[in-house]
Amino acid sequence: MSKPFQAIRGMNDILPGESALWQALETTLREVLATYGYREIRLPLLEKTELFARSIGEVTDIVEKEMYTFADRNGESLTLRPEGTAGCVRACIEHGLLHNQNQRLWYAGPMFRYEKPQKGRYRQFHQVGAEAYGMAGPDIDAELICLSARLWRRLGIRDVTLQLNSLGSSAARAAYRDRLVAYFEARRAELDEDSQRRLATNPLRILDSKNPAMRGVLAEAPVLLDHLDAESQAHFEELRTLLDAAGIAHQINPRLVRGLDYYCKTVFEWVTDALGAQGTICAGGRYDGLLEQLGGPATPGIGFALGLERLAALLAAIGQPGADANPHAYLIAAGAAAQRRGLALAERLRDQWPALRLRMHCGGGGFKAQFRRADQSGARFALILGEDEVRTGVVAIKPLRDPDGQQLTLSPDQAAAFLGAALDAPPRS
Ligand code: HAM
Repeated sequence: MSKPFQAIRGMNDILPGESALWQALETTLREVLATYGYREIRLPLLEKTELFARSIGEVTDIVEKEMYTFADRNGESLTLRPEGTAGCVRACIEHGLLHNQNQRLWYAGPMFRYEKPQKGRYRQFHQVGAEAYGMAGPDIDAELICLSARLWRRLGIRDVTLQLNSLGSSAARAAYRDRLVAYFEARRAELDEDSQRRLATNPLRILDSKNPAMRGVLAEAPVLLDHLDAESQAHFEELRTLLDAAGIAHQINPRLVRGLDYYCKTVFEWVTDALGAQGTICAGGRYDGLLEQLGGPATPGIGFALGLERLAALLAAIGQPGADANPHAYLIAAGAAAQRRGLALAERLRDQWPALRLRMHCGGGGFKAQFRRADQSGARFALILGEDEVRTGVVAIKPLRDPDGQQLTLSPDQAAAFLGAALDAPPRS
């Protein structure tokens, strides 16, 4: 016999036992985004490879070694999106969504990166991202951060910290880069292999190194925040004032540089200690140059994306229940005549109560086996149709979760009213 297939490493199934939590999470995210005026944009999973190389940056880890890239049947190089910002910008430019208008947009879905899988880091993972275009001031930066803080409050998440930094203008960053390279060159021997390689390609990323052996050389490195241009400095100060006014605590992390090249000015991450090494649940920043760089109008942009796997793990860790997905009722019907009646009754109840979760027993079996299934389903009530009920035109309702509950025999109309009351939902007019 051949071995059963397994999913691709780092690509997870979200099983029925987990999906209620995901749905509850997604519903909350959608609701909060809508209250801030964000509208959904749905984007393809595949884009031209060039889009990611030009936006995320040629010498980033993502583009250098993590993209799922292949030639399609025409020989065109395509890539499964490793993130959503590039595609969102592409779509806005392509559809003229930025002409004389601001946009607040969100998207959700799977992203793909060929990373080393570990807890909280996967090769297919899911993000919800929010992007805002056309607003240059720190007010929108503050609003986006307030929005993310509200998400945590709505989700019952407490122990997250906001880390904040500014990368300045591209000119300030270029000048800082030279200063940093000179510093690291002078202390080259203290750099690990990876950082020596980055010195030539992406020296700012060296600051992000987690290698304890490099702690000394990193601690004494020049700090970008000390070398900001005046405009970025003022932007950053005002953002901090706005966050203080909104009561949002933040830590300045001068080492926060982010792994994607398109950022300028504000960058931020929400971090928790509750998830081990992969503790960043949400990250983003400003990318004022990206739209022009991709052939669009010179429009400022800012956004963030949160990792749903990490949020779901955090919610599970703090014991947040998902939405109740158990059926309200399980319909048991023994015998051919009862099954026919049962199907018709189930459809009628569903017509009347659109929110009713009614599971009908299919697949045959006697009363005993059917009751066992009803019990396993977690349903509150069993609706029972046997020969007697069919003959007398009634249905029996047995409470399954209430030890004191009495079995009732009701007409179909009474049964519908009973379930409606249990549902606490208005009937369809
Ligand atoms: P990012 O920092 O690469 O930024 O990813 C954002 C979030 O996605 C991370 O903080 C993390 O929660 C989650 N994430 C990233 N990689 C993985 C992975 N391999 N497995 C599980 N979760 C992961 C971006 O993607 C930017 N596009 C964010 C942004 C939007 N900036 C501006 N607008």
